[in-house]
Amino acid sequence: MTTTGTQTQGLGEENSIWFKLTPLLRGDPENPMRILMQMAERYGPVIPVNLANQRIVLISEPEYFKHVLVTKVDNYIKYFDGLKPIFGKSMITHDGALWQKIRMPQQPAFHPDMFAEYIPYFIKAIHTKMDLWAKLAKTGEKFEMVEQTWTLAADMICKALFDREMPFNPHVVFKYVKTYTDVMEHRDLRLRKQAGEVVEITEEDTAKAVGAWWAVPPAVIGADPHEDRERTLLKLIQAATDDPNLPEFDTQQAIDEIKQYLWAGTETTALTLAWALYEVSRNPQLAERIRREGEEVYGDREPTAADYSALAYTRAIIQETMRIYPPIWGLIRVATEPDTIGGKEIKPGDRVVLFSYGAHHNPKFWEEPEEFRPERWMAGNAKKQVKYSYLPFGGGKRSCIGGAMSQVENTLALSLLLRRFRPEYAGPNPAGINATVTLTPKGGLPFIIRELS
Ligand code: HEM
Repeated sequence: MTTTGTQTQGLGEENSIWFKLTPLLRGDPENPMRILMQMAERYGPVIPVNLANQRIVLISEPEYFKHVLVTKVDNYIKYFDGLKPIFGKSMITHDGALWQKIRMPQQPAFHPDMFAEYIPYFIKAIHTKMDLWAKLAKTGEKFEMVEQTWTLAADMICKALFDREMPFNPHVVFKYVKTYTDVMEHRDLRLRKQAGEVVEITEEDTAKAVGAWWAVPPAVIGADPHEDRERTLLKLIQAATDDPNLPEFDTQQAIDEIKQYLWAGTETTALTLAWALYEVSRNPQLAERIRREGEEVYGDREPTAADYSALAYTRAIIQETMRIYPPIWGLIRVATEPDTIGGKEIKPGDRVVLFSYGAHHNPKFWEEPEEFRPERWMAGNAKKQVKYSYLPFGGGKRSCIGGAMSQVENTLALSLLLRRFRPEYAGPNPAGINATVTLTPKGGLPFIIRELS
């Protein structure tokens, strides 16, 4: 998957951790996470795995998560092999003082005080999606839910954070990015290719995927502002590039920040909403309760920021979805200093995988962890949780900048969509899981939709 000169190294490259973990994860085709959980149960919470020229250390204990993410955070740097074409030199890839310099000017766009300003734009994007769903309900055709929620999430980011109507075709971009990031596919394709087989995805396709992705930020910057709002993330990014005290924040930095938001802020948000719709469609009582809550809280008007706070049950569905299906199933770091964790030696260069999925599904921290129980998040129950046992947004200073905002997006989307539609999951039951960089449904989540009368 390497195309010389164009930096199109794929995640399936042999030196990428994603490639290395694939054979291990293939041991349980329906849920590759179970293999890692069994390993943790058998060999303990810190497992060094020796590979040809590198060690991976699998960690699954909350107190060690804290050690890596907080206590010794500066000794564990971010890991991005294979993802550079997606993220460029955006802040998510940096460490130390440079990371801080890049994050600081953008942080105000994610302050909770901003959410009330964004909500009307989130709702506009949800209405656009509802118009499309009304058509899909009429034809009765099957569609891919993750593609639907990805395009919604991208629209929300463009409208609320960039003050733009989406200046690209989100369905095309979605397909290209999937081509690039579906790591398990990459490995298979490489092996089939080595065996002389003709395969559908070629290196040119990977290059095309990256090319399409790189065309998106200039389109965003070049598009006319939708309403010429003053307080947007895009304006903060542009101001940072003009700041003489911030020479590091150059034009390429601005382009890469936009790339980062259009992946980190869409893929994860979209997966959460799609998995939530999957759970809700399998349990109509949940859908009914969400509809009732919407009726009681905001009735026939559009929901506001205050209504968001009152949608406690709908928000609990989103939180529980991220426990069962954490979009980022493991946080990866590279050790820069010798260390000891749980009595095991950590060497500089070790790839440390903080296995958040494992903690989210561990009966030591969660009663009946495999059961979808939104009540865990209601009325004080969440206070009983063990610290660092729930890490959908990571932890410490490198935790997600948009986590709180994504909960607003997804809670409102779930509430509004379910009040008008009944999405019906139409795939194998239960849906299988694929572990790429994110936790994705194996083969997607096919749905049909009905409009409620
Ligand atoms: C359900 C939704 C989301 C999930 C589960 C999620 C998850 C995460 C996680 C786990 C990290 C930390 C990764 C690590 O420590 O290695 C992260 C970082 C990040 N996320 Fe999110 N995220 C979500 C939504 C968003 C949104 C809506 C945005 C922005 C619009 C966003 C932007 C970012 C950025 C920029 C970082 C890097 C922060 C830094 O390095 O300082 N994410 N996200």
